[in-house]
Amino acid sequence: MRNPMFVYDEQLTDLIFDYCRWRLALHPVPLDFGGAQASSLDASLKGLINPDGTDPRRIMEIFDNELATAVVSCDSPRFLSFIPAAPTKAALLFDMIVACSSLQGTSWMEAAGAVAAENQALAVLADLAGLPAGAGGCFVAGGSAGNLSALMVARDTASHRMGDRAPHRPLVAISEEAHSSVGKALRVLAVEALLVPCEDHRLTGAGLRATLESHPRGDDAIGVVATGGTTNAGIIDDLAGVGRVARERSLWFHVDGAYGCAALFAPSVRDRFDGIELVDSFVVDPHKWLFAPFDCAALIYREPHLAKAVHTQDASYLDVLHSDAAEEWNPSDYAYHLTRRARGLPLWFSLAVHGTDAYRAAVETVLAVTRETADLIERTPYLELVRRPDLSVVLFRRTGWDRAEYERWSSQLLHDQIGFVMPTTWEDEPVARLALLHPDTTIGIIEEIIATMA
Ligand SMILES: Cc1ncc(COP(=O)(O)O)c(C=O)c1O
Repeated sequence: MRNPMFVYDEQLTDLIFDYCRWRLALHPVPLDFGGAQASSLDASLKGLINPDGTDPRRIMEIFDNELATAVVSCDSPRFLSFIPAAPTKAALLFDMIVACSSLQGTSWMEAAGAVAAENQALAVLADLAGLPAGAGGCFVAGGSAGNLSALMVARDTASHRMGDRAPHRPLVAISEEAHSSVGKALRVLAVEALLVPCEDHRLTGAGLRATLESHPRGDDAIGVVATGGTTNAGIIDDLAGVGRVARERSLWFHVDGAYGCAALFAPSVRDRFDGIELVDSFVVDPHKWLFAPFDCAALIYREPHLAKAVHTQDASYLDVLHSDAAEEWNPSDYAYHLTRRARGLPLWFSLAVHGTDAYRAAVETVLAVTRETADLIERTPYLELVRRPDLSVVLFRRTGWDRAEYERWSSQLLHDQIGFVMPTTWEDEPVARLALLHPDTTIGIIEEIIATMA
């Protein structure tokens, strides 16, 4: 007798697929609410996991009515906080295939088909950045995992290259605007951050050079991280200047483009990324502005063999994964992970179905609505634009408001299901922040939000 947990169950399948079909067809997606009372969620969940199992219809009812509604839909065009998401339908559907086929993408030996397709998607991104043929890497869970994996390669490559001359306590230069995951990665790696002051919130080549020359331990720097679109304000660092200094001083040059490097697709802003072709590694998250579901970040190296030397795991049972075959490519050799879901495939499928022109157009749409938003704010008497957006984040003030008023407004906006918009801090002052990313976020939605601030 087969174990019933592994027998195809038509009713259960219909239950789940019907839900997925309904969710995929929703337009618009409801914004819903986060931060529900823990006690009421506990009451809904009580007893669901028990020795005998629970009717899946009851579980789905609770999921649908109590749990799903206590999660703000980050794929709603009204979700404008933090960094939103906007997966294409094609990507979401293919994610179900990845799940239903248990598609893993750990090694070439086990998963060549999945890995070859993921690599095709990575090559599109490497090309956009202007990296030479031969560049490559893998998909990891997020920008944080990508930054950590790349900086581990930076640290160990410097140590191998420099041998006895390697600094005892290496430094990596970063700006105060670098994402918090970069500082955290450096702490994990026991590498110290060398803080470079920004010029108008940008890390510049001149600033980097001045810091390296004036800091008593400047010669201990082994790498630099620039940001291709800061999270708080969408500002792109001086990649060309930073890249030149990195080359001169043999520093590993990493660009954290987790949010912003999607805009490499967009001709209207492509020149702001000049210098990205100089990177040793960069990260861009398809689960952000490249319309893939969670969790998917692309990590790409100029010379992947350097990453392989650092990340390949050495264990007797894994020896079989490594051969001399030229085409062999083990994603597990390019980041700190081992077993991994073939998480690049939803992006790959969507890119193949829609074509790269559709991606270019979708990113440009978001940039155009962002510019209209900035114009609208400039025209609105009770608002003040903090700065023209480089990408798709808009910072602005409501004259006369303090932090408590921004917070009250933000809660009311979510309560009324008009938008999810959280304030941020800019130069020690609370300001409103809109992060646009969904091509369905219209100027009409923005007008509705702004009207509530009058
Ligand atoms: C610039 C930047 N780097 C890194 C990250 C972290 O990415 P993740 O949340 O995918 O780990 C973010 C997240 O917003 C980001 O904006």
